[in-house]
Amino acid sequence: MLLDCQRIDRFLDFSSNDRVLDVCCGNGILARELAPSTLDWSGCDFSREMIAAASHHRIANERFLIGLSTRLPFKDHSFSKVLVYACLQYHTTKDAITAVSEAKRVCVPWGRILVGDIPDVAQKRAFDKDTAFGCRRRLVGLASEAKRFVLSQPRAKDTWFDREWVSRSFGDRRWQVVISRRDPPYRFDALLAPR
Ligand SMILES: C[S@@+](CC[C@H](N)C(=O)[O-])C[C@H]1O[C@@H](n2cnc3c(N)ncnc32)[C@H](O)[C@@H]1O
Repeated sequence: MLLDCQRIDRFLDFSSNDRVLDVCCGNGILARELAPSTLDWSGCDFSREMIAAASHHRIANERFLIGLSTRLPFKDHSFSKVLVYACLQYHTTKDAITAVSEAKRVCVPWGRILVGDIPDVAQKRAFDKDTAFGCRRRLVGLASEAKRFVLSQPRAKDTWFDREWVSRSFGDRRWQVVISRRDPPYRFDALLAPR
C-alpha cells in the first residue's frame, strides 16, 4: 500500500493547502498514510462498515461519511484534489462516467483528479492467465453445481476499461486526461488536470 501512496502522491503532489476528497475511501487506509500532509481529508464510501472502520482510526484532519460516488454529498468546488482509487471496477461504464463528472463538479477548476488503479481490458486475458482469478470466470462457464455455487457468491461488478475510452469519456473541454501504464500492466491510472 505504501507504494500505491507514493504513486498517488507523485500524481497529486499533496501540500498543506490541499483539501482532498477520497471517493470510495474504503477503510481509510490511503487516508492514514496521506492525510497528514494535507490541510483536510474527506473520505466517502457507500458502505457503512467501511466508514465505521475508517472513522475508527481518526486523525485530526480527516472526516468520513457515507455517500455514493455517483451522487457525492458535497458542494461544487469544495476540494483541490480528488482521488477515485481502486474502485472503478465496481461501476458500470455509465456509472463510471457519472462518478467522474461528480468528481469534476466537487473539484476546483484548477485542481487535479486521479482516477487510479483502473482494470485494463486489453490485459484481461493476460491477467486471467497469470492469476487465479481466471479460474473463477472459467467455473462460471460450467453447467454444474460449481456454476450455481459460483453465481451464488456476492460479486463485484468487475468492469474492465479501455484506455482510449477512458481518455475520450473522462476528458472534456476543461479537463485533459493523461493515462499512465503500471507495472504489472493489468491496471492503469488516469490523471485529470485543467487544460
Ligand atoms: C477496493 S475498495 C478501495 C478502497 C480505497 N479506495 C483504497 O484504495 O484503499 C473499493 C471501495 O469502493 C466502495 N464503493 C464501490 N462502489 C461504490 C459507489 N458507487 N459509491 C461509493 N462507494 C463505492 C466499496 O464500498 C469499497 O469500500
